[in-house]
Amino acid sequence: MSDEGAPGPAPEPAPEPAPEPAPAPTPPADGKRLLEIDHLQVLFPIKSGVVISRAVGHVHAVDDVSFVLHEGETLGIVGESGCGKTTLIRALVRLIPATGGSIRFRGDDITKAGSNQLAPIRRQMQMVFQDPQASLNPRKRVGQIIATPLRKRGVPKNEIEPEGQRLLERVGLSPEHLNRFPHEFSGGQRQRIGIARALAMAPQLILLDEPVSALDVSIQAQVINLLEDLQDDLQLSYIFVAHDLSVVRHVSDRIIVMYLGKLMEVAPAEELYSKPIHPYTSALLGAIPLPDPRQNRARTRALVTGEPPNPINPPSGCRFHSRCPRATEVCEAVEPRLTEYAGGHLAACHHPQHVSAEEVTAARRSDASPLSAGDQPPAADSQAAPASSPD
Ligand SMILES: Nc1ncnc2c1ncn2[C@@H]1O[C@H](COP(=O)(O)OP(=O)(O)OP(=O)(O)O)[C@@H](O)[C@H]1O
Ligand code: SF4
Ligand SMILES: [Mg+2]
Repeated sequence: MSDEGAPGPAPEPAPEPAPEPAPAPTPPADGKRLLEIDHLQVLFPIKSGVVISRAVGHVHAVDDVSFVLHEGETLGIVGESGCGKTTLIRALVRLIPATGGSIRFRGDDITKAGSNQLAPIRRQMQMVFQDPQASLNPRKRVGQIIATPLRKRGVPKNEIEPEGQRLLERVGLSPEHLNRFPHEFSGGQRQRIGIARALAMAPQLILLDEPVSALDVSIQAQVINLLEDLQDDLQLSYIFVAHDLSVVRHVSDRIIVMYLGKLMEVAPAEELYSKPIHPYTSALLGAIPLPDPRQNRARTRALVTGEPPNPINPPSGCRFHSRCPRATEVCEAVEPRLTEYAGGHLAACHHPQHVSAEEVTAARRSDASPLSAGDQPPAADSQAAPASSPD
């Protein structure tokens, strides 16, 4: 590396419903099921009382969420701050206990697994965090940071250093960097160290919690390219969390859009951008600036204003109704079921966009639909719902 021995941050490496069942939708990926999440719920109790503490309410951080992740797949998870993305992925690796529902890894139910059953599975599911500075121990050299998971994996003592060097090279750093401290690296390089630490366990699944949000745009692209190369070489599966739809577009096979703890839409990545069914997805898309300022000014955007409601007392019916430009009475009264349209595209909305009346008629309730959702299918005349102008 050109920054060899240089003090301070080292430079980045070179740029590198109908109630009746309809025809089965196209499976979202060819791979086997790696992770199956079934009606997962995570509630955080709100406690009150000085002497005797008791729960006076709950934060509905993840509420009745179901999805499947296939081997080799990248699943993007997107939504505004506080919608439950981090809680969801922390619950998947059992860092947070689930209040309800189940988590299966390769068919094994790990929802309540004890530490003995969990240990080998946890090794196969590694996390990379948003803030590489905070997630690396500043008092330890990179070699020590990477040696810990290598030891846990059972790598013999004499092979730990060469294996650490190999991992650093694999993530675009220099073998000599094993001897440095985290503060001697730039943000992008620290994130590479975080990725090397995750790889040290030889995982099958990496859960990336906003891995590039803290980085400059040019560095973001380098880290994303690295993640894609690693996936090709090592047949990894990713869950890639972001609050911005522009970040996950090119890395994801499918994307989940979350709002206030619930799934709003699940779709193959390109279809989500070309044919968003849910008004909330349109609003997130409208928030992405276009590179050309003239196009940016000229386009019509379906933006939502205001803050998401309080997750302690979420709105009735559709949780998005208080901010939705298409909301009608039914939205406030009845929770929309997650409905499966053609091509593995799911959305929970009474007035879906970009779907024909025929598609609405042929749609079916998804197994991933919340248990609490009503039975009312989207109206066949949903195209005539209140006017909005999605991009
Ligand atoms: N330990 C906790 N105790 C109580 N509430 C919590 C706890 N952790 C998270 N929450 C709440 O749960 C909700 C979901 O939080 P979470 O961090 O999962 O959101 P997020 O989508 O990851 O947000 P961000 O984009 O800001 O990272 C929020 O309302 C948050 O305040
Ligand atoms: S169900 Fe109603 S409030 Fe919810 S997203 Fe659809 S139109 Fe908007
Ligand atoms: Mg988060």
